Amino acid sequence: MKNIEQINLGTNGPLVSKLGLGCMRMSSIWGGPTPDETESIATIHAALDNGINFLNTGDFYGAGHNELLVGKAVKGRRNDAFISVKFGAIFHNGQWLGMDLRPISIRNFINYSLTRLGIETIDLYQPSRMDGSVPVEDIIGTVADLIKEGKVRYLGVSEITSKQLRTANSVYPVSALEIGYSLADRQIEGELLPTAKELGIGVVAFANTAEGLLTGEMKAPLAANDYHSHFSRFQGDNLIKNLEKVEVLKALAAEKGVTPTQLAISWVNAQGDHIMPLVSMSKRSRLSENMAAMEMTFSAGEMEKLNTTFASGTILGGTYLQR
Ligand SMILES: NC(=O)c1ccc[n+]([C@@H]2O[C@H](COP(=O)([O-])OP(=O)(O)OC[C@H]3O[C@@H](n4cnc5c(N)ncnc54)[C@H](OP(=O)(O)O)[C@@H]3O)[C@@H](O)[C@H]2O)c1
Repeated sequence: MKNIEQINLGTNGPLVSKLGLGCMRMSSIWGGPTPDETESIATIHAALDNGINFLNTGDFYGAGHNELLVGKAVKGRRNDAFISVKFGAIFHNGQWLGMDLRPISIRNFINYSLTRLGIETIDLYQPSRMDGSVPVEDIIGTVADLIKEGKVRYLGVSEITSKQLRTANSVYPVSALEIGYSLADRQIEGELLPTAKELGIGVVAFANTAEGLLTGEMKAPLAANDYHSHFSRFQGDNLIKNLEKVEVLKALAAEKGVTPTQLAISWVNAQGDHIMPLVSMSKRSRLSENMAAMEMTFSAGEMEKLNTTFASGTILGGTYLQR
């Protein structure tokens, strides 16, 4: 097993790999085809073999398909994996209908997740958003009860405001904040990131490639049936201007002999010892490239160039992460 760097999730939280494996895209989320299951499971195994133990799933990813897949992958090697599960999002036919975080529902969801995963305890359990109709105290209090019952080990939260994070942490210590963060989406730097740091909460940062924008592989205009076209970031002039910024990333990557995706991941990694890049990979071929990104460093000049080119607000339009 390779010696991958580790990160503490929260001040007294668990030690896990500093690179997380996002499993979401191993299932059909928005109604597209399901990726090759054998390759997905092989990717999870290869990640575990390389010391990447943080696996991220959600009970609504592929309507339970993702948990079943992760469950299959960790069968016989439960102790190698740290399993993080999101819950509460309600989907129908690939459409997001909202959140259901009533305590009665959470108590129902957890049992289905445990059964699908084939495990007795979920390592990190987190509401995927807050639900305006249920007080934060009741949502967090219910997860705290599940921790007491032994069904969950640690509490996480996801896509939450700074105020909600403080409230949640006052009810029960939050180990991890899962949040979209990349060169293209830096709004959380103002308040939420400093709050997490102050409270000693680990940051699990997803969408490092900003829905593929920062991979350098996107070209304008997108095909009409490309799901990205639904987001204003990838439409018309916005996309043309955003891709001009990506050219700077591509040029710097070429100078350093790395890929734009590696730069995007390593920039997130460089933002703090308490920040974990959580990267979707559904093919083994992604692993070595993304693990290498965790070893990269930036000169002060390179960091300055990236921070200036991708200053908060310079990427036009949003995705579902628009805050
Ligand atoms: N809390 C939330 O609200 C929330 C929302 C979204 C996602 N998440 C979690 O965060 C994880 C990551 O988020 P994400 O999927 O939105 O973003 P991401 O990690 O930026 O992944 C986007 C795409 O990048 C591709 N990719 C990975 N490595 C690459 C490389 N080296 N070169 C080129 N492309 C590469 C992946 O493709 P392949 O799949 O083909 O390998 C994936 O389709 C998800 O799996 C999920 O667990 C959480």
